[in-house]
Amino acid sequence: MEILKTLEFATWNPSIQNDEAADYTHALESGQLALLPHLSFELQEDERHLLSPAWSDGKAKNISYDPQTKVVKHTSATGADQQAIGRMMGRYADCAHQLVESLFPAYTKGLRWGRTSYRPVEADGRSSSVRKDDRLLHVDSFAASPVQGQRILRIFSNINPHGKPREWSIGEPFDNLAPRFLPKIAKPLPGSSWLLKTLGITKGERTAYDHYMLQLHDLEKLDSQFQKTSPQTAVSLPSGSTWIVYTDLVPHAVKSGQYCLEQTFYLPVESMQEPKLSPLNKLESLLATKLT
Ligand code: SIN
Ligand code: FE
Repeated sequence: MEILKTLEFATWNPSIQNDEAADYTHALESGQLALLPHLSFELQEDERHLLSPAWSDGKAKNISYDPQTKVVKHTSATGADQQAIGRMMGRYADCAHQLVESLFPAYTKGLRWGRTSYRPVEADGRSSSVRKDDRLLHVDSFAASPVQGQRILRIFSNINPHGKPREWSIGEPFDNLAPRFLPKIAKPLPGSSWLLKTLGITKGERTAYDHYMLQLHDLEKLDSQFQKTSPQTAVSLPSGSTWIVYTDLVPHAVKSGQYCLEQTFYLPVESMQEPKLSPLNKLESLLATKLT
């Protein structure tokens, strides 16, 4: 299978035929990265000064925005600058939403908003713990925010003003990875899900699915042999481009790049065109048990 599915659209709301939509949805659900090389997110004149790593708070990886509450977090910006960041990220969230609804109309009903992120810091050299280091190959799973089986669908746009691509690595298919790591993962402890929620460590219940996905994420990052020897393909994501990928399914790592916007959506497995392609269904068949 090709890693990339290249789409030539240059607008956020292209109109497409049903059979095209089914084809794009199948590509995405199968683990292809949909790259739109000509779809750029344009900054407005009064947003250009936001292209600086100084707007990061220096602690979190990304500046974060909640499209539902419109709250901006993890930025050093205050007052009018903070409002400008919120407006830019809000515009991006709307563009990303339109794009997903246009290309994957079947998702419209089930789609749920996640956060928007702005990544103004160079990815190569950003210091962090191994578990938080996205330069290492991993599938996405969030320790504090269980998804309870839902899919993690992400839209990224490289807004680098100097023409610098964002360099990613893509790993082997999930079907190769999961059987390699699953035997190393212990079952969740009885009562642990309730305890994590009660102590406020997780927002909502960490289901068995979340447990296995988080372990998979951690074990991949912590396994230096795996990081060095497993097959990886370099993918260069040009400035001025947009890409869409199921990051819970596709092992990815960011090697370098600066200035990126990202929108997360969650999708219930039932809303997929082919639910059997979900990590939930794959793990449930490998483990021969229900995980949510
Ligand atoms: C990630 O989702 O692991 C990071 C991707 C990026 O920042 O380009
Ligand atoms: Fe990731």
